[in-house]
Amino acid sequence: MVFPEYRSRRLRRTAPLRALVRETRLSADQLVYPLFVVPGKKVRQPVVSMPGVFRVSVDNLAAEAEELLALGINSVILFGIPENKDGAGSGAHAKDGIVQRAIKQLKRSAPQLVVITDVCLCEYTDHGHCGFLVDNEVDNDATLEILAETALSHARAGADMVAPSDMMDGRVAEIRAALDENGFEMVPIMSYAVKYASAFYGPFRDAAESTPQFGDRRGYQMDPANVREALREATLDTEEGADILMVKPALAYLDIIARLREEFDLPIAAYQVSGEFAMIKAAAANGWIDGERAMEESLLAIRRAGADIIITYFAKEMAALLKKA
Ligand code: PBG
Repeated sequence: MVFPEYRSRRLRRTAPLRALVRETRLSADQLVYPLFVVPGKKVRQPVVSMPGVFRVSVDNLAAEAEELLALGINSVILFGIPENKDGAGSGAHAKDGIVQRAIKQLKRSAPQLVVITDVCLCEYTDHGHCGFLVDNEVDNDATLEILAETALSHARAGADMVAPSDMMDGRVAEIRAALDENGFEMVPIMSYAVKYASAFYGPFRDAAESTPQFGDRRGYQMDPANVREALREATLDTEEGADILMVKPALAYLDIIARLREEFDLPIAAYQVSGEFAMIKAAAANGWIDGERAMEESLLAIRRAGADIIITYFAKEMAALLKKA
């Protein structure tokens, strides 16, 4: 059937008709809100390059949790900014470290909240790289042990899920083994399986104080030009025991999300990163685009590509919009 017998516009005529045939939907319980936790008391410090995002101290987390749950957002991912940094990133696995304290506080005040932790060293090393340096290069195998120690310390503090973002080879297996040996066999691993060396992490690195002091991350994060390598990374992490595969960033890598969705049966997460958020916010602040519509459109695109879970700084705004509708 072709025009004029068939008319595509028939089903676009009214809002209820469009809703009836809509193929993709957003829901607050698929969104994960990133939280930056800083030392101190009563801190709620705006992140300049991410309007509406704050760095908060542990004593403000109960209020954050309450706000998120009221919006229908059930999950957070934690990033810690420690008091002190050193060469080995030892603050990452300190028993009373910033993230460990944050986990305890959140689980105490909102036990039903899914607390995911980012497992990486870049916020904790004085050089800002994601691992342990040997001769000014990130040493893969020396880093594995520190990462496993870090994931384990998060689990001990009560984390519901750990998410390694360092891009070292073999880290999922190392973390799985450490968790299992210590009675945390039920703690899932959401692996940043496919993480590109991206320009879109800029605002995050301001917020997390994790800009590398020399060089860049191309020696461990992926080349944006590659797709076969993404499939290989996802295969390796699946074999090592990942429970969820993540693609990061999201909007510039929708093809990667779609390929992973086709070829793997694990849940797929996508991280709409700081730069993606900042671009929309900046353009909207200038009156160049409708920020609310651009937010919704970008999140829908990520879902349509195949992501089950979206980590996004828009989580609160999107959930509020869904509530209104
Ligand atoms: C830690 C980490 C980064 C992000 C998440 N975990 C920064 C990086 O790899 O440089 C970026 C998130 C964002 O930009 O929102 N390695």
